[in-house]
Amino acid sequence: MAKIVGIMNTSHVPAIGGAIHKNLQQDPYWKPFFDGFPPIQGWLDRVKPDIVVSVYNDHGLNFFLDKQPTFAIGAAPEYTSEDEGWGIPTMPSFPGDEDLSWHIRANLVRDEFDIVTCQEMLVDHAFTLPMALLWPHQKWPVKSVPISVNTVLFPLPTARRCYKFGEAIGRAIASFPSDAKVLVIGSGGLSHQLEGERAGFINKAFDLKFMDSMVDDPMWATQFSDLDLVEQTGNEGVELLSWLVARATLPGRVKLVHSNFHIPISNTAAATMLFEPL
Ligand code: DHB
Ligand code: FE
Repeated sequence: MAKIVGIMNTSHVPAIGGAIHKNLQQDPYWKPFFDGFPPIQGWLDRVKPDIVVSVYNDHGLNFFLDKQPTFAIGAAPEYTSEDEGWGIPTMPSFPGDEDLSWHIRANLVRDEFDIVTCQEMLVDHAFTLPMALLWPHQKWPVKSVPISVNTVLFPLPTARRCYKFGEAIGRAIASFPSDAKVLVIGSGGLSHQLEGERAGFINKAFDLKFMDSMVDDPMWATQFSDLDLVEQTGNEGVELLSWLVARATLPGRVKLVHSNFHIPISNTAAATMLFEPL
């Protein structure tokens, strides 16, 4: 059966794409963020996952307010990125793992998650940037399964539901008849708010508590409603729901392999964490 070999959670500010394009990784502004990735790249060289299951939120490229599924999964042979309005360069297309997509979909529906299935799916910066941070040469050595979580049209799925959703994804991966090594990515957050009176809002204390909870109390954040999360983390900080989904794919104790936290990148408290099964 397939095995989850790691969970990597990270922020996904669009400006990271511009910094990659302009080779600014060593620039004093960007270095504290990009320095979080060489240890993870070393881990990837050792562990060599075959498939990425990436949990992220679409920002209006593939879904908009007219059609906004709470949860959606790609089941396509490949995924392409497009300019979604930030002007960041697109990336080489990402090969999909259709068999795992259909397997996860079937298991989620049986587990009472009515997920939307997309045989065509554009992927935005929330999917592409973590991939480019892990594999800077942008020659993808993995196949992908994108899973999107609504973080834009309220009400959002509750944190509790996101946790259960992650557990169901984890069970589905663990029952996939293959010896594939799977890396689960959670993309989003941490605290940030892009507009309105609290534009620029960051809550370092909450972010650090949330990061601690990811290590050994992953259900901690399930106590919060969507509006609690807006209050604590800002309107866009709710993207941390993707971290919760990803972490819940291995719901027990895990080993923290690497962690990085830096405030701010653009408007965002930028964090990265890598976990392994114990
Ligand atoms: C920023 C952060 C995001 O998560 C996003 O999707 C867009 C912009 C920012 O901080 O600039
Ligand atoms: Fe975002």
